[in-house]
Order: sequence, then structure tokens, then C-alpha cells
Amino acid sequence: MTSSEKAYYLTTPIYYVNDAPHIGHAYTTVAGDVMTRWHRMAGEEVWFLTGTDEHGQKVLRTAEANNVEPQAWVDKLVGEAWLPVLNVIDAANDDFIRTTQARHTERVQRFLTQLKDSGHIYEGSYDGPYCVGCEEFKLPGDLIDGEGGEKLCPTHSKPVEQVSETNYFFRLSSFADALIKHYEINPQSIRPESAYNEVMSFLRSGLQDLSISRSTFDWGIPVPWDNSQVVYVWFDALLNYATAVGLGDDPGSEGAAKFAKTWPADVHLVGKDILRFHAVIWPAMLMAADLPLPKCVFAHGWLLVGGEKMSKSKLTGIKPQTIVDLVGSDAFRYYFMRAIIFGQDGSFSWEDLVARYTSELANGLGNLASRVQAMVGKYFAGSLPAAGEVTPADRALADLLTKTAAEADRAIRLFDFQSGIVAIKEFVDAVNLYVTEQEPWVVAKGEDEASQARLATILYTICESLRAISILYSPIMPKSMARLWDDIGARESGVGRSFADVAIWGQLKPGVKITKSESMFPRIEEPETI
Ligand code: MSP
Repeated sequence: MTSSEKAYYLTTPIYYVNDAPHIGHAYTTVAGDVMTRWHRMAGEEVWFLTGTDEHGQKVLRTAEANNVEPQAWVDKLVGEAWLPVLNVIDAANDDFIRTTQARHTERVQRFLTQLKDSGHIYEGSYDGPYCVGCEEFKLPGDLIDGEGGEKLCPTHSKPVEQVSETNYFFRLSSFADALIKHYEINPQSIRPESAYNEVMSFLRSGLQDLSISRSTFDWGIPVPWDNSQVVYVWFDALLNYATAVGLGDDPGSEGAAKFAKTWPADVHLVGKDILRFHAVIWPAMLMAADLPLPKCVFAHGWLLVGGEKMSKSKLTGIKPQTIVDLVGSDAFRYYFMRAIIFGQDGSFSWEDLVARYTSELANGLGNLASRVQAMVGKYFAGSLPAAGEVTPADRALADLLTKTAAEADRAIRLFDFQSGIVAIKEFVDAVNLYVTEQEPWVVAKGEDEASQARLATILYTICESLRAISILYSPIMPKSMARLWDDIGARESGVGRSFADVAIWGQLKPGVKITKSESMFPRIEEPETI
């Protein structure tokens, strides 16, 4: 692809830095990372953005509760928790935006001025409920009743606060019809379908204008024409997707080139709790500025603990490091993409994690690799033998690989990570069955030439299968698949790692070294202490 073509641009939400990341946050980032690695593997140019949402009352109050200035608080948390977690989960993001960076605040201010100048902003007064946990102005119908009769936020189960302020409003209501029309023409731009339906019915019930500034605290981006107000945190935060890639920069500048290359975003990955912000407010902001709308907002479900959304505020948050310490980053990534249907809620349990790790990774894939490595070591002194005459059983694996690659690609591009992984896993299972049925250890006992030739073909077939597996699984398990790639001699063979060539059979070069290194997925016991 030439560098003037548009890159595949995927974003995660930017995370509030009121606390350290838990596996709910890591879940979104892993999904984005798997998807972008999949596209990169196909040779596409990719831009993967994640970052932190640092303004607003939620962050401010946490900083105050810790007796720290908000800037010092966010700097500390980003440095000590949010950036390191990307390494913990092995995310290969291209950029990391913080909403306190000048590149963001300056572009937000410029955007706001442009919207004001074009008549989309006016001064008004707001009087209504606000949830600081969601950082959201609520409608009375959104709330649930608490035990003492007070009104609670359904997400946080905490009382909402009454806000009464004079501030600036964005004419959100004027975009309802245009949004409905846009989504009728482009139904694939909100996924899954349940999310599409939710947004459409919300839009059809009519929109109210949105207060986009606050005057009772100052932790935020100053409204450029009125320094007594700061920009409402969501208005500030949503813009990160565009400010990070040069929104509004002068023609001919580096920022403008970046914007042309990335915008509109291909996918905004979000949790279902923040769907409306992304599928209603954000596109309306873009329409107001005459900018193209993102191609897709994908809303995934929640990780549940004890039937409830995992969250720090409810003390159910599990640190990614805790799981990674047990099974490693690859199995962490594999587990969440494999066990939960992306787009639906899913419960996390240690039992399920350990069971899948053991059966699918340690016994399934890890054992397959170590067995063939051991056999090539024992029977061919660690040097990959050349395949001889091919039998229908060998050919069947090659054919299945072609189907597997196509199915995995289809499913993963649709964010159906589970089906994509299952397709690859079924190929692993088929190779394991092939080993059982072909009984290379029995064939090895025959000392005649035909037996040795057959043994060579069987072991070559297994190694070729592992070469393909190490490509197909690499977006999901980058570390162990890079090692497998080396161990089965693919690097030494000089084979390409592009998805396009994955199913071309017979790429490993006879004579390359097959290494038996430490087990990719060592056996583990379920931790008693957790
Ligand atoms: N700062 C806003 C997003 C602004 S984007 C312009 C925000 N931050 S958050 O830290 O509260 O949550 C961000 C995202 O984390 C959620 O949308 C979701 O993607 C993920 N999750 C947080 N808790 C989660 C679970 N328990 N389960 C799955 N994902 C969850 O909202």
C-alpha cells in the first residue's frame, strides 16, 4: 500500500485516571490490540490510539481526597499505572493521548471556537441531575430509586447530584434527524445490532441540547472566550480521537497530513455504558464541524463479577497484573477474547480461566508443539526432514488450513473474536488428532526406507501446521507465537509472516533447526489464595 492511502484507525476509550486499571479496562485495550495486530498482519497500515481522560470532577475529587493537586495526581497515576499496564497486556498502540497535553487542549479550544462562531453554541442555564461517576447529565427517566427514596445512577448505584449552573450549550437537538438518517443509511456503523437499536430508539425519542461547560470547578480546559468556565469533560474527551491525529491543523502541516491519513476513524471501541456519548454526541459534534463521521462504533459488554459490572468503585476490580502473573500476557489476551462473546456481557471466573488455559493452551497447543519438537529431536537430530509422498490425511490438513484462515479472517474482522479463535483452535485440534491417528512413534519403529519417509512426512506436516498456527494466533498471543515461529524453524527458513501467504503449504525448508525450548504454556495450579 502506498503511504497516501488511508490507514486503518482504531481507538479505545480514554480511561479515567481516578484509579488504576482493572481487567475491564484491559479488556477493551486487548480487543483493540488484537484487531489492529490482525490488520497489520494483513499488510495494512494501522493507527491504534489509546489514552487517558484526565479532567472532570471524578478525577478532581479523587485527587482532592488524596490531598494532591489534580495535575500531580494524574501524572503519577498515568506514569505508575496506565502506561505500565500496556506492557503488562502487551499492547502495541501507536500513540497514547492524555487530555492534559497541550496538543489536545489547544485543538479542543480551537474546535470550540469554531463551533461557537458557526452558531452551534449558546449560553443557557442547566438545572438537573448529574452523576459524577458517569460524568453525565442524567434525565429523570435514567435514574433508579434508592432505599431511602433518593435517586440513584443505575450504573454506579450511587445518588446523583443536583446541578444548577449557567453555562454553554451545544445545539445537540438540531442533529437528531440528521443522525437518524445517517444511521438508517449506514446501519453497520453501530454494532452490534442491539447497540444500533438502542441508539435509534434513543434518537427517535428526541434529543435535548447539551451543557458543554462547567463553572463550579476549574479542573478542565478553559472555555476560550470565557475563562470562568471549563469544558464539560465528555466534550473534551470525545475530541481526543481527532485531536490526537491533528484535528483542525493548517493545510500542509504534519497534523493535517496525519488527519487526512487517519480520519474518519474506522472503529471506536467502547463499553456499552458509553455508547450514547459515542454514537449520539460525538457524531453530532463532527456534523457541526462538517467533518466525516467514524465508520463504526462497536459497543462491547461488561466483565461481570458476581453478576455485576466489575468496577473499582464497587471494589470488584481485578488488576491485569494479577492474572498475567499466573498465566502470562498471551493467555490473558487469549482467555478474554476466547471466552466471552464480544458485544455481550461475560462473567470472569478463575476456574474458567485455569480450565481453558490447561485444556486449550497447555494441553492443546503447547503439548502439540513440544511433542513434535521432541520427535524431530529424537528421530532427526533436531533437523526438519523433507516431506515425502503426501497422503490424503496430510492433504486434508493443508485444505483445512485454507478454510481456517478464511474463517478466522472473516470472523475477527467482524469483531467476532470468539469464532475466529475457535476456528484456529479447531485447526490445532485437527493437528493433534492427526498426530494421534498417524502415530509417528509407531512409524518410527519401522527401519525400512518407506517408514522413515513416512515419519519425515508426518513430522514435516505437523511443523508446517505449526508455522501457520504461529501466524494465525500471533495477533492474539504475540509473544509465544513469535517464539514458536523461531522454534519450528520458520525464521531460519526465511518465510514471510504475512497473513496473505499463511495457507501456502510447504514453506518450511528441510534441514532447518527445530528447537525444543521451555514449554510455551507451563502447567499451573488454580491459586488457592485468590
Ligand atoms: N473516560 C470515559 C471514556 C471517554 S472516551 C472519549 C470512561 N472511562 S472509564 O475508565 O470509566 O471506562 C472506559 C472503558 O473501560 C469503558 O467504556 C469500557 O470500555 C471499559 N470498562 C470499564 N469497566 C468495564 C467492565 N467491567 N467490563 C468491560 N469493560 C469495562 O468511561
